[in-house]
Amino acid sequence: MNILVLGSGGREHAVISSFSKSKKCSKIYALPGNGGTSILAENIKGDINDFDFIKNLVIEKNISMVFVGPEDPIVNGIYDYFKSSPNLKNIKIIAPSKLAGSLEGSKDFAKDFMEKYNIPTARHKTFTADNINEADTFLESMTPPYVLKADGLAAGKGVLIISDLIEAKKELRRMILDEKFGTASLKVVIEEFLEGIELSCFVLTDGKNHKTLPFAKDYKKIGEGDKGLNTGGMGAISPVPFLDDKFLSKIENKIIKPTIKGIINEKMDYFGFVFIGLIKVKDEPMVIEYNVRMGDPETEVVFPRINNDVIELFDSMGTSNFNLINLDIKPDHAATIILVSEGYPNEYEKEKPIKGLSDTKDTIIFHAGTKRRGKEYITNGGRVLAVTSLAKNYLEALKKSYNQIKKLGFADMYYRKDIGFDL
Ligand code: AMP
Ligand code: GLY
Repeated sequence: MNILVLGSGGREHAVISSFSKSKKCSKIYALPGNGGTSILAENIKGDINDFDFIKNLVIEKNISMVFVGPEDPIVNGIYDYFKSSPNLKNIKIIAPSKLAGSLEGSKDFAKDFMEKYNIPTARHKTFTADNINEADTFLESMTPPYVLKADGLAAGKGVLIISDLIEAKKELRRMILDEKFGTASLKVVIEEFLEGIELSCFVLTDGKNHKTLPFAKDYKKIGEGDKGLNTGGMGAISPVPFLDDKFLSKIENKIIKPTIKGIINEKMDYFGFVFIGLIKVKDEPMVIEYNVRMGDPETEVVFPRINNDVIELFDSMGTSNFNLINLDIKPDHAATIILVSEGYPNEYEKEKPIKGLSDTKDTIIFHAGTKRRGKEYITNGGRVLAVTSLAKNYLEALKKSYNQIKKLGFADMYYRKDIGFDL
């Protein structure tokens, strides 16, 4: 079968890599893909939010399955577009509906959902220009630091954690009245700060049944010791060492089951991943956020651990076979380290030649911000490469990745040397 993968990150390279191992895979197209995907797939130039363009591509290339990597097309309703188009309605699209997309596209919507289905999360309240004056009283009722979240998508930048009350009141006004994050912050969720260790939970569901994929832990901050600005993610490991059976069963019962129940009750067409951002607070799991897609860099440690034929797995969704397939997960631990361009997540330069990509024995290199220039690969983004390794334990896996990095390089390369430091 011909497959189309939307997106251009390490996540998409990892997914394409798994697709390429399937017996059922004929040809893979990546829109727009990156330097690494161009080896396993045909990269197509184009906009992942141009659904008419995607429709024509699917028809022209005889594509039977579309995997949507990033959240944007999901929140913009790509699933609904497919289902309402006579030419596309039978194409398997791995993406939830626009309504389900609101779980990521609107923090306020997600909070209402959690409240309705009794899913543990931080105490919160939503504010707009209409009730902005009540926000001061709410902030005063909380203990610092204060968590202010833009309601809509803000490219991972819409969450502010502020320790000073006066500053928090000011920032709230900047978000709502001055549109600090554009229309995404016309509504702001203020919530209680949760203290604990974070982990990422991934559930694959066809809106009836579900499978819990391997858990992962990612490292979001740019600096060592989890300091500095938030990024898309600087590294990840899977499984999560502190996730024991007791804690896992709390997550299943208090979070995953009620989430799936809510999805069914609300009649959200859900055909894809629920990525539940969790935090362990005094041995209890709480939800920080929902995403409606796989995580990046978590995919680079989760997908290499899945032995199943992923086309078979996705193809079974929506049929009785989905329940019959057992996930076959490698017991190995996986670690990934992200190599970024100096300056990221702020300004950085591009088009630096990358060296050492062919000299890999023990590791898998997933490309993110790369592109090909003739025979060479050059940098083309903030996050450039994900260096993944598998081993008996996460320390061994990390060691393999760090050894590999010694052979890799581009001008002004930066990476964190402390992934796993907190475990
Ligand atoms: P979000 O976009 O909601 O995932 O928030 C981005 C990051 O901000 C999270 O990964 C957490 O590290 C942090 N964060 C968000 N909400 C809270 C909270 N209520 N308490 C503590 N940290 C939070
Ligand atoms: N690694 C976090 C995310 O994909 O949102």
